[in-house]
Amino acid sequence: MTADPNRTEPKVSHADLYHPSDAVKRAARIKDWEAMSRYAADHPEAFWAARAEELGWYRKWDKVLDSSNAPFYKWFVGGKCNVVHNAIDRHQSTPKRNAIAYLWQGEDGSERAIAYGELAREVGKFANVLKASGVRKGDRVTIYMGRVPELPIAMLACAKIGAVHSVVYGGFSVDALHGRIQDSSSKVVVTCDGAFVSGKVVELKQIVDDALKRENGVTRVICFKRTGREVGWVEGRDVWWHEAMKDASPECATEQLDAEDPLFILYTSGSTGKPKALLHTHGGYSVYTYTTLRYVFDLRDDDRWWCAADPGWITGHSYIVYAPLMAGVTSVIYEGGPTYPQPDRWWKIVEQYKVSVLYCAPTAIRGFMRFGPEWPRNRDLSSLRLLGSVGEPINPEAWKWFYENVGGGRCPIMDTWWQTETGGFMITPTPVLPLKPGSGTRPFFGIKAEIVNEMGEPCKPDEEGYLTILAPWPGMARTIYGDAERYRQTYWNRYPGRYFTGDSARMDADGYFWIIGRVDDVIKVSGYRLGTAEVESALVSHPAVAEAAAIGLPHELRGNTIYTYVILRAGHEPSPELAEALRQHVGKEMGPIAKPEKVEFVAKLPKTRSGKIMRRVLKARAQGLPEGDLTTLEE
Ligand code: PRX
Repeated sequence: MTADPNRTEPKVSHADLYHPSDAVKRAARIKDWEAMSRYAADHPEAFWAARAEELGWYRKWDKVLDSSNAPFYKWFVGGKCNVVHNAIDRHQSTPKRNAIAYLWQGEDGSERAIAYGELAREVGKFANVLKASGVRKGDRVTIYMGRVPELPIAMLACAKIGAVHSVVYGGFSVDALHGRIQDSSSKVVVTCDGAFVSGKVVELKQIVDDALKRENGVTRVICFKRTGREVGWVEGRDVWWHEAMKDASPECATEQLDAEDPLFILYTSGSTGKPKALLHTHGGYSVYTYTTLRYVFDLRDDDRWWCAADPGWITGHSYIVYAPLMAGVTSVIYEGGPTYPQPDRWWKIVEQYKVSVLYCAPTAIRGFMRFGPEWPRNRDLSSLRLLGSVGEPINPEAWKWFYENVGGGRCPIMDTWWQTETGGFMITPTPVLPLKPGSGTRPFFGIKAEIVNEMGEPCKPDEEGYLTILAPWPGMARTIYGDAERYRQTYWNRYPGRYFTGDSARMDADGYFWIIGRVDDVIKVSGYRLGTAEVESALVSHPAVAEAAAIGLPHELRGNTIYTYVILRAGHEPSPELAEALRQHVGKEMGPIAKPEKVEFVAKLPKTRSGKIMRRVLKARAQGLPEGDLTTLEE
């Protein structure tokens, strides 16, 4: 395969092993990893059926896996369930009802503790609000909120009545939000007046209003008051959350759904064109996220779990909302910026709430490293017993810093590799596996991963290739909403019978996997997934731009950063002011995370004879690397 210049080189070192302590091994749910892994590989359906038995079902499934219409696999066929039954309802008849589901802290220091019982009432009320707004089973609801408890409440309320939520990350802006509202044909949007992030207010309602000035079918906007600042209002369309909730009944029956009924769609950037809405279902997704969370992070009743991701991305869906609630643990949610007002904000929260497991992104760790180890060291982090990493490769330096300075040298780091498409952890340590900094170790139980070359032949140890998955798993996305053919093309056509991940990787002689990075047009900026196509389309929506190309280049802090190349329309001259205006324009249309680091004006872009921009060549040029095979270049 062609070497991708945009990648972090993992160092495969067989000597650098971190063995779990006896205390960690004693506490671990899985004692014999090899035996469990062998059993799940040999009897995947029996393995998953046994996991599913741990959850509640209205009606048991007839068939664990139906492969008759592959790649449109079905799990727990004939089963009746609802993720809310397991996440909320079944705790109500146990002492869990009084246990805390969410410990929330606002950036301004305000706090809320929400017990499972209260969560049930709030979800029931909001489900009735949605019904009164005309939402029925199968309808899509767009949720665009800050990190407040009402975000999970809104998601759960949708799930409860069988509606399909589409959460749009609060860091996205007008164009990105509008595209997602339209594509999902949502009639209802749930938002906040604003969100506090790093001392600033993100004007969420204003962004919704701007998005809804464009074509749309939205009849209701429900707005949660968080900042209290003045917002625009459209009479008849807009209602306040607190007013709608005032008279709503907490009684609302949880809809008994088919295991394969949709739970949510989540838009993510793909290799080409507009973002894809990956669709996840109630049954398989529940079983998969619940199982992975319990085995990998070994959560118990007395744990304080903090997944510091945003609920607007898959990590938050699976491991802030659904799996922790099904597992009945207490989760911490923090609203704001990690270093606001000081670089020890996170460590203060760990100290204050006695967080026992912290799961976050490498980019956050690299951000903390800049401020020095004294910030975590000056806080009491002795409550921590496990750490986790997700979203991008973690460089061994950041791994070791996290391990020593946050984990005090005693907390194993679960470096979990997975994707929006996979629903839950796929390649991941468990507490009993020896660790190698920078490696996600080995595939989870029942996951058959293989690295192959261009021809689909298995790579030799340490040889770089494409990461593929050989067999279906319950948490897999079932389709792309509204575009089943694209689902088949993107994930299943390249190597028939296998799921293509879009990542390059290596497996070492010990069977440990090392993720290298994306091989498609996805750029991971600070762990956030963005598409070159979206950035380019934001650029060409500016009147001065005729054509644009975006690439990701390695960045010490953010993993990758966006570089763009722009051809101007006649009558426009390159200038530093115009470059800055274009950066701002992308920020306004897509969101601050998509703002390019650099806008370079060019007269031409390298293209194939069929007119496709060769981003690989741009990347190589930008880094002064060999440009590789240029036989398909236009000139
Ligand atoms: O490139 C891999 C990277 O993130 C991609 C998936 O992004 P997204 O769908 O936004 O989901 C992120 C959270 C699950 C993957 O294709 N990635 C994710 N986790 C890791 C990772 N790369 C290396 N190591 C990881 N632990």
